[in-house]
Amino acid sequence: MTVSFSISPACIDETSTVGAVRVGDVMIEGDPNDVVSYNASRSDHNHYYSDLYYHIEIDDLQPGRKYSYQCLLLQKEEPSIQQYLRQDREVLNERIISRSNISTFHTPPAPGQWPQDRSIKFAVMGDLATKPHSRETIWHLDRDKSIDCILLAGDISYANNHHHIWDEWMDMMSAHDFFSSTPVQIALGNHDLDTVHRSGPIEAIDGSLEIGLAYESRFRMPQIQPPVRELASLNLFRRNGQPNDFLPYEFGNAYYSFTFGPSKHIVLSSYTSFREGSLQYEWLLSELQSVDRSATPWLIVMLHCPLYTTFQTHHKELFTTEAQAILEPLFVEYTVNFVVAGHIHAYMRTHPMAFSRRDPRGPVHIIQGNGGRQANDLYYSDAAEEWVDVRDHSMYGYGVLDLFNNTHAMWKWVKTGFNAEGEGGIHDQRFDADLNLHDEIWITNQLYVEEMGVNENVELDLER
Ligand SMILES: [Fe+2]
Repeated sequence: MTVSFSISPACIDETSTVGAVRVGDVMIEGDPNDVVSYNASRSDHNHYYSDLYYHIEIDDLQPGRKYSYQCLLLQKEEPSIQQYLRQDREVLNERIISRSNISTFHTPPAPGQWPQDRSIKFAVMGDLATKPHSRETIWHLDRDKSIDCILLAGDISYANNHHHIWDEWMDMMSAHDFFSSTPVQIALGNHDLDTVHRSGPIEAIDGSLEIGLAYESRFRMPQIQPPVRELASLNLFRRNGQPNDFLPYEFGNAYYSFTFGPSKHIVLSSYTSFREGSLQYEWLLSELQSVDRSATPWLIVMLHCPLYTTFQTHHKELFTTEAQAILEPLFVEYTVNFVVAGHIHAYMRTHPMAFSRRDPRGPVHIIQGNGGRQANDLYYSDAAEEWVDVRDHSMYGYGVLDLFNNTHAMWKWVKTGFNAEGEGGIHDQRFDADLNLHDEIWITNQLYVEEMGVNENVELDLER
């Protein structure tokens, strides 16, 4: 588990202060060499200096346990105190310069284990931003106290190089308890790249751009290796700043995996090459080959750009068409259960499918890009494709993936708001009048459909 927090540069003197996390009675000091900050000044008149970010990894936690923790700013001690020191409370109190509120988190069950008396719930969100509907969505999410982990499928803040919007997003999230108590796993969206053509902030001498600066600095996902971010040529971006080809960004927060009890999660970067022979492809292949489905019967992939879409926008984008050509055969071969994405500002859930046809052994594809930025993408055609089960382009919301046992999960779309007139509403015909549109369905684990059959009316059965 990694606890991330920021400290204002005004509060910290790197020669005499250090960030720390106290978990129970164990105190872990941050590594002074791993304090992250960045400068994204755009001109003489537009300076941006980020806060200082600590990402402190807490090891030796027991699975399936609740821990209390507190973030601290401490007076540095010489010689430097070692990590994991159990400090005398009085000595520690003398060192504390400032402290956060006490929060709690739960560790996931050990790989392959289930909680004793409940299911495991993931919230799935995408394209969140800091709009009124974004705030409405997370307000609803905060009321659901049963979420174990949040999967955020990219386009997180829509900062687009205006880094104060990242601060606004962090403030928006921090106003809710879940943000300090529930792990958040992120995927890289195009609006998380923070690059612009003109008056670009971090334009190198040759005109190329640094990418993913805030995305790498502010978050710390489980790393395969530290990030490798080379300068990206301007030719890799369209006039509107959107990428038109894969970008030189490997490892770090770009792509990674984690295990959460009975589920294995693979997070991919849509904007890093996944062509055969690429680093990401070879890593993905080795991950898929090494998954032990007897321990983790659920296999969930998250990436920003969907493989399938019933909507107009981004329909023929390289990152979607190549994903369908290159990644789908792997997802089908290795029986991925769910492929969750954002990017498109709407909602879609497919039937289990493979290669543009319904297939009970194939993944269910979800687009959950209606977190708050917009929810008004037009349909590609009036009649939904045969592999689409539910689609909507008028409601905001998030999804809940509820893993019930090895064989069954429930997927639920939680609606949090709808487009009003003037924001893609009734008058431009993107508004579905059926506000009662509902999506809550049992999914049979595709590993077992041949022996169990597809049964959409499953009796609740907690036997595992
Ligand atoms: Fe996007």
